[in-house]
Amino acid sequence: MRIENKNAIVTGGASGIGRATVRRFAAEGANVLIADRNGAGAELLAQELAGSGRKVLAHQLDVSNEGEVDAMVDRAVRDLGGVDILVAAAAIPYAGFGGAEDRHRAIVDKPFAEWRELLSVNLDGVFLVDRAVARAMIKAGGGGRIINISSVMAVRPAVNSSDYCVSKAGVWMLTKVLALELAPHRITVNAIAPGGVRTPMLGAALQRNPGMEQAIIDSVPLHRIAEPEEIAAAAVFLAGEEASYCTGTLLHVNGGTLMV
Ligand SMILES: NC(=O)c1ccc[n+]([C@@H]2O[C@H](COP(=O)([O-])OP(=O)(O)OC[C@H]3O[C@@H](n4cnc5c(N)ncnc54)[C@H](O)[C@@H]3O)[C@@H](O)[C@H]2O)c1
Repeated sequence: MRIENKNAIVTGGASGIGRATVRRFAAEGANVLIADRNGAGAELLAQELAGSGRKVLAHQLDVSNEGEVDAMVDRAVRDLGGVDILVAAAAIPYAGFGGAEDRHRAIVDKPFAEWRELLSVNLDGVFLVDRAVARAMIKAGGGGRIINISSVMAVRPAVNSSDYCVSKAGVWMLTKVLALELAPHRITVNAIAPGGVRTPMLGAALQRNPGMEQAIIDSVPLHRIAEPEEIAAAAVFLAGEEASYCTGTLLHVNGGTLMV
């Protein structure tokens, strides 16, 4: 077991990469707070893991709401006994994700409100969650691990996704500045940059765009789309003892799509 008896928060833990990370963390011995806007999904996963021998709790919140984020960390401190590890995975691919309309738009067609909505979740949300967790970790004095989920699109621009690309580049820079600021507290801060991963987020795009799945596969040297468990494997590495000297890094998990 690589993170036995550690206490972890996973935002976006009800689905996709977050859910795979919650499952893997519980299997590796951690107690986990599943934090997600989708409270029912978080509850379902907590029930699935009820027999794991670990404390697995569901917590509903919107990561773009400062008060709700602070309350989430207070709950983890109270009900888990502290926070040793954070994985910040909650994000949306475009404003209004989950609704009927696909709002991937060129910059010239993008309403300011949509730009603001995406940034408030994908960038402000990571700032708020990282800040609240960092404060709790500093107060506890035991070090810690913060892992932010960025994207290959932090580095590689894509048309009609300016807000998403900017949010993920912002998460990467936030990770580096925070790594500098928290190093004296023995808190490491790293990011993971996945390429295409088979989750509901990518699934929605594949469903709308016939041919996109094959185009992605053809662009990947390993010639397949990643499974969420392969990103969770990177997260458990960064959360564990073996990553003790890694901080401020962006770990690419992209099948060779982008080599930087
Ligand atoms: N799937 C991919 O191909 C891919 C590639 C690169 C990066 N990523 C990143 O990986 C992370 C996880 O994405 P995924 O593919 O698993 O997506 P997903 O849609 O399956 O899961 C995202 C989760 O975040 C939650 N969430 C969204 N907005 C929230 C909010 N405001 N407050 C709280 N929870 C919120 C959703 O309810 C959902 O459970 C994201 O940061 C995403 O940008 C995904």
